Amino acid sequence: MDRNVEVLPNPETLIQRSLSLVLEHLTEAIDQRGQATIALAGGSTPKPLYEALATHSLPWEKIHVFWGDERYVPADHPDSNQGMARLAWLDRVEFPAANLHPILTTASDPEEAARQHEVEVRTFFQNQGNAIPVFDVILLGIGDDGHTASLFPKTQALQVELNATAPQETRLITVGNKDGQPRITFTAPLINQARCVIFIVAGASKQSALSHIFAPVDDATVYPARLIQPQGKLWWLLDSSAGQNLVTSA
Ligand code: 6PG
Repeated sequence: MDRNVEVLPNPETLIQRSLSLVLEHLTEAIDQRGQATIALAGGSTPKPLYEALATHSLPWEKIHVFWGDERYVPADHPDSNQGMARLAWLDRVEFPAANLHPILTTASDPEEAARQHEVEVRTFFQNQGNAIPVFDVILLGIGDDGHTASLFPKTQALQVELNATAPQETRLITVGNKDGQPRITFTAPLINQARCVIFIVAGASKQSALSHIFAPVDDATVYPARLIQPQGKLWWLLDSSAGQNLVTSA
């Protein structure tokens, strides 16, 4: 894991830096492999990044968009991560519909939705030749409680680990749980396969979680973002409010 931590002066420069990093990695993937795959973070922090991406001209037909997690609501619900990204970016540029891979939340049972999405992810990456799909870019945020994606503290979703003897059988998509509300989420093993994971974190309310996430020793079941140790590059992009007191061990 190649971990980079950058503290940017304010939310605006945080978004600009996030934009430059995302563009760099999408372009590199397209140049090297003919296409790019990205999984989006939900919540509020990344919305201005998605709005900024909508102002750029990229070969959208070569970019495939997934979501690292989704609330279990319809796509037109105000809490939908799919809906937020479509409004901010995806529906404002010429993405072929086949390039957008939202997590469907129409099944009555969230477990069925997770299974359906796992089939979609495995099918899309079936020719990549890896036991576990390798995304080019995965965007993440963290909650004040140290969760990431929909991997919430002390929940079953955290129990999904890499199957070392049969990695191809590792679960990729599982059901998360936020205060009893179901969510669908990438598992930590899937996220950790990515070529590049970028955390985008803003606001003083994230300081406490960051101190536990970056501590040399702490409890990953309480601060699940500690589980994210990708085999590729890891970027932590923080605004000064979030990162001003952070001590990052070597
Ligand atoms: C979600 C996200 C979640 C988010 C954090 C931070 O579905 O809410 O995937 O993991 O990244 O909760 O959210 P904010 O950016 O709103 O602080």
